[in-house]
Amino acid sequence: MLATAVPPTNDRGSDFPQLNNRSTLALTGATGFVGATLLTHLTGAGWRVRALYRPRKGRVLPTIPGVEWLSGDLEDEDALVALIAGTHAVIHCAGAVRGASHDDFDQVNVEGTRRVASAAAREARAPRFLLISSLAAREPQLSHYAESKWRGEGIIKTASENMRWTVLRPSAVFGPGDRELLPLFRCIASGFAPLPAGTNGRFSLIYVDDLAAAVVRWLATDAGHGQTFELHDGQAGGYDWGTVLEIGGRVLRGGGPVRRVPIPVSVLKLAALANSAAARLLGYAPMLTPGKIRELTHPDWVCDNSEFSRITGWQPAFGLEQGLTCISGKNLKK
Ligand SMILES: NC(=O)c1ccc[n+]([C@@H]2O[C@H](COP(=O)([O-])OP(=O)(O)OC[C@H]3O[C@@H](n4cnc5c(N)ncnc54)[C@H](OP(=O)(O)O)[C@@H]3O)[C@@H](O)[C@H]2O)c1
Repeated sequence: MLATAVPPTNDRGSDFPQLNNRSTLALTGATGFVGATLLTHLTGAGWRVRALYRPRKGRVLPTIPGVEWLSGDLEDEDALVALIAGTHAVIHCAGAVRGASHDDFDQVNVEGTRRVASAAAREARAPRFLLISSLAAREPQLSHYAESKWRGEGIIKTASENMRWTVLRPSAVFGPGDRELLPLFRCIASGFAPLPAGTNGRFSLIYVDDLAAAVVRWLATDAGHGQTFELHDGQAGGYDWGTVLEIGGRVLRGGGPVRRVPIPVSVLKLAALANSAAARLLGYAPMLTPGKIRELTHPDWVCDNSEFSRITGWQPAFGLEQGLTCISGKNLKK
């Protein structure tokens, strides 16, 4: 059973964090799926946010009261110093989630994290530091992505003695704007779900607004320093694909059937190899890679929220059913 969402409160019981002259946050990755939702929740909770963005032709940044956009990327040390100067906390959410090679992930998730951490450590009064890692970091041997997230965590943990860091490891995140799970939900809505054959693993999920709410709670409670937390939607024991298809059919097909289309893992591996080769040739960042197949077929991606909830009071508000209800319709068609 899911608990009701707890609104952000600070120690004095206010609905907003205590704002003072250090009430500005530095946020990386604000133009991405998770970061954009974070931005909305952080400003909604009363924080001012200085957000890093990479200038790109045609890019239109949302105008949000309380948000100051700063141009730069994770390779630009001056931009990172300017981003972090005088902030109360750094929320480092930028990350490479697609890539063909070790280097594609390493440059962003390891070296980029190293630069953000060192810019934070240069501050006379080091800001609190939150790394949005991934549950994948629990199994670094599976993929370049998983290894890079694990190594990124290592950098934060050894960055500086006076840095008060926390690592969050969200399970698979879904919600409007997600590009990883949304294709599967679209297939479910059409009545067919291509999935790896013969796999019966269990996994946790988290709705993107719940992840953002967890960050707001972390800020409000000033707890969890030096700790790593896994986050999921409150479904103890996680899901298997059968349950996902059953809930998906109920929400996205009005109770209509969803047929599982088993794809042999050998076929998926071949497709992943071909996709990786094409990506290297054509210069795009692939999602389907041999590492992604190993992640997909890993039997245990179940996690446990209890410690984070205990120390911050955060409780997830959206299970898969509620989350799918939110993304059904317009969001699913985009
Ligand atoms: N989605 C999930 O299921 C999930 C699960 C667990 C953990 N996470 C973690 O959550 C974080 C965000 O993931 P996401 O799903 O939101 O990915 P996303 O949509 O691809 O967003 C990635 C963000 O990082 C920025 N970024 C990437 N490389 C950068 C660089 N070199 N310099 C500056 N910014 C850079 C991107 O900027 P541009 O817009 O300019 O590309 C974008 O804002 C990642 O750290 C990921 O590991 C995600």
